[in-house]
Amino acid sequence: MAAPMTYAVNNQQYVAVQVGYGGSGIGIPFPRDSAAVKYQNVNRIIAFKLGGTQVPMPPNRANEAFPEPPPRIAPEATVRTGEILFFQECARCHAFGPAAISDLRKLPSGIHAIFKDIVLKGVLAPAGMERFDDLLSDADVDAIHAYLIDESWTAYDAQHDPATAQ
Ligand code: HEC
Repeated sequence: MAAPMTYAVNNQQYVAVQVGYGGSGIGIPFPRDSAAVKYQNVNRIIAFKLGGTQVPMPPNRANEAFPEPPPRIAPEATVRTGEILFFQECARCHAFGPAAISDLRKLPSGIHAIFKDIVLKGVLAPAGMERFDDLLSDADVDAIHAYLIDESWTAYDAQHDPATAQ
């Protein structure tokens, strides 16, 4: 999406462009056939010149497996409340699938353990994950977490089923 720019150094013209998938594309997974799915989405600036050499490719993306989620203990009604809250407050940035921002169905156990501190206290605010304690209660965050655990189990089970593994 970034606009290219051009400049010259010692009479050699360059065209530089910032590359990497993202920008307005947060909250939706990368298109399946996009380079960001095949390769890691490294944010970088590439400068072209006539007769330049081949552009180095980013490393391939490793398709990380879904880790085993915490136990599903919340009642169904809580999970459904969490689903609504997730789509109201979280889904505009967090898509399911490979995307610019974490897929919350793939959380490692250490992140599950501090889920509430992330969402209500802003533990990851320096990384761009702001606190939501002005919008969400403790119970709201438990419900969102319950919904995500439920979705994580669906994805975790599907990856062990050859018919549905993705
Ligand atoms: C404005 C965008 C935005 C919104 C809205 C948002 N997040 Fe985040 N979130 C981020 C960013 C940026 C990060 C840090 C980078 C990353 O994990 O990809 C993050 C990280 C996280 C992490 C840690 C992920 C990990 O793997 O370490 C959790 C958990 C999380 N968010 C939960 C939520 C929940 C729950 C909501 C809804 C209440 C929410 N986020 C809404 C942008 C957002």
